[in-house]
Amino acid sequence: MRIFNFGSLNIDHVYRVSELVPPGATITAQEYRQFCGGKGLNQSIALARAGASVVHVGVIGHDGELLLQALRDDGVDTGMVRRIDSASGHAVIQVSDSGDNAIIVHPGANQMLSEAQIDAALQQANTGDWVLCQNETSGVEYLLHKASAAGLHIACNPAPMTPAACGYPYRLLNLLLVNQTEAETLTGCIEHEVMLDGLQQLCPNGIVVLTLGARGALACRHGQWLQQPAQQVKVIDSTAAGDTFCGYFLHELSQNEPLQQCLQQASEAAAVCVQQAGAAVSIPRMSNTKSS
Ligand code: RIB
Repeated sequence: MRIFNFGSLNIDHVYRVSELVPPGATITAQEYRQFCGGKGLNQSIALARAGASVVHVGVIGHDGELLLQALRDDGVDTGMVRRIDSASGHAVIQVSDSGDNAIIVHPGANQMLSEAQIDAALQQANTGDWVLCQNETSGVEYLLHKASAAGLHIACNPAPMTPAACGYPYRLLNLLLVNQTEAETLTGCIEHEVMLDGLQQLCPNGIVVLTLGARGALACRHGQWLQQPAQQVKVIDSTAAGDTFCGYFLHELSQNEPLQQCLQQASEAAAVCVQQAGAAVSIPRMSNTKSS
């Protein structure tokens, strides 16, 4: 069983600041570093470090060789990543002393994921394989329809949320993963119980997961909700914590582990991730997912 992740690949420019810059202000960063990131790349690496067999499908520009290398270093199959003659996607990330972040993403080459590339990748998938996507590439809606028609298992983490993502066919999914902000936009609700009902209506045949940062996570299948508290750890940088959670949760689910086990393993991995700076670099291996 393989997981085909149709996802973004970004170069992250990370600025450590005492507080996130307020509107109209200019501040000086304490530190600047560059990391490999992108929700797609991060989730592929989380899956691979959890033990999954992963094929990454995406697009890089002339400056993206380091992104490919990062995937390969973790054993991700990069044979379906296309190179084009423009800039790769990148992100400008502020990380504050409290570990909060604010991110601007420029899609770059990620917006060139074509329908032909999606079709070619899906042709390589077999019954029982999973398709995973986020919302940082082109072609998401097309992919969901095609993957469903091919009878594949489908997981989607529609992040970052956009107006277009409100109309995606979530009814086709086997797994929908969202955070509080995404859930609010999708359902128009702010109370967790109502929000959860709304998500389950959008995705009636699948598992819905709602991540709540330091307040833990919830998962639901057929109206049955499970809760997972978050581990209390010192947060250095929350970047890629959600991606770590997604990758680990999907790996456990694809191994047919019980939902509570999926939640617990994903939470433990995310708790390790937030204790280190950077995106992909902070994602733990399965053997290192105990945070204390
Ligand atoms: O989820 C974290 C990621 O969001 C970063 O790596 C950045 O590239 C943006 O895509």
